[in-house]
Amino acid sequence: MATENPSGQPGRNIRIDGGRLWQSLMDLAAIGATAKGGVCRLALSDEDREGRDLFVRWCEEAGLAVSVDVMGNIFARRPGRNPELPPVMAGSHLDSQPTGGKFDGAYGVMAGLEVMRTLNDLGYETEAPLEVAAWTNEEGSRFPAPMIGSAVFAGISELAEGLGLQDLDGNSLGDELARIGYAGEAAVGGRQVAAYFEAHIEQGPILEAEQRVIGVVGGVQGLRWYEITLTGQEAHAGPTPMPSRRDALLGASHIVAAVNRIGHEHLPGACATVGLMQVHPNSRNVIPGRVFMNIDLRHPETEILDAMGAALQTASEAAAAEGGLELDFAEIHHSPAVVFDPACVAAVRNGAEEAGYSHMDIVSGAGHDACCMAEVAPTGMIFVPCADGISHNEEESATAADLEAGCNVLLQAMLAV
Ligand code: GLV
Ligand code: MN
Ligand code: MN
Repeated sequence: MATENPSGQPGRNIRIDGGRLWQSLMDLAAIGATAKGGVCRLALSDEDREGRDLFVRWCEEAGLAVSVDVMGNIFARRPGRNPELPPVMAGSHLDSQPTGGKFDGAYGVMAGLEVMRTLNDLGYETEAPLEVAAWTNEEGSRFPAPMIGSAVFAGISELAEGLGLQDLDGNSLGDELARIGYAGEAAVGGRQVAAYFEAHIEQGPILEAEQRVIGVVGGVQGLRWYEITLTGQEAHAGPTPMPSRRDALLGASHIVAAVNRIGHEHLPGACATVGLMQVHPNSRNVIPGRVFMNIDLRHPETEILDAMGAALQTASEAAAAEGGLELDFAEIHHSPAVVFDPACVAAVRNGAEEAGYSHMDIVSGAGHDACCMAEVAPTGMIFVPCADGISHNEEESATAADLEAGCNVLLQAMLAV
């Protein structure tokens, strides 16, 4: 039985249980909890398995039908009156960065579950089925392709590419899925989704600075990842004269400085980061013979992002030539800038408006599974503030009230489309 409000629009007066949402987030954050109050649940680690198991248990307790696809993506379905209709889906990810926070990803999954629980409490029937998705390896921290679960679902990446990704120890994503018991049997994607919504903390400072509760996300900036290997020559740190060295770390340090310069040269909007570097052999008295590094470049405009990539390649070639180093330069990932579906964006804005939450339009600086889903379904996102704009950090923090507000908007958007 649908709950009606005085305006006659079904569901407009429904509110989620903010206390229950908060408790679920805290219970989930106990899995892989770190000393500084964050979480470490790297994709397909034992902690990721535990987090998945808890989510699946909660879904089953809520009467949802759980399925797992070959990429390990988990779907929990609440039937609608018309089983022929494609589902309205909410989702995000349960994996985290090594020094991650409690809310990045987990919030979107728990908010989707809270929507289901709320509708169950009210005996509220929807026309279309609803689903909550937990996507595999969104972070790209362990396996070097962010959002790979949703990318394969959306047909952006091949299944074999996803399953074949390797972590730095040479473990494949497919083997690790099987090891933790989440190599499912359902086909990956190839089915219609009526609409997809993702609730997420902003991970930046804008909502807090503007004192708005809800970010109505219009799109996501583009992202390119590069892997660079510089090879020089290992040699003794004592007897080897300075002029005859081929120091791979010295070359890498010139690239680090160039990456930072490229970011500054393409402001406003550009971000440029070296977040991963491996120095070989990493010994105190050996001149480094090899360095492996990952570069993350972002910009909302494709042409500028392309120019940043070209500048990186030029700077890398110059650093290698100057240091007598061999250069291996490869782009390993590209997520183009995304513009979300106007009707889904409007549904988010209306949900915020009607609930009386302050809101503003915003572009996402971070990548999300919603970027991939936007390829195959009308998609929108809801942001809520996080303290000091800090994320990918154990101190990541958001208020229960803001998380509740974002979940209420998610509920309204899901019912509106
Ligand atoms: C996802 O966490 C990203 O790197 O944007
Ligand atoms: Mn995330
Ligand atoms: Mn993240």
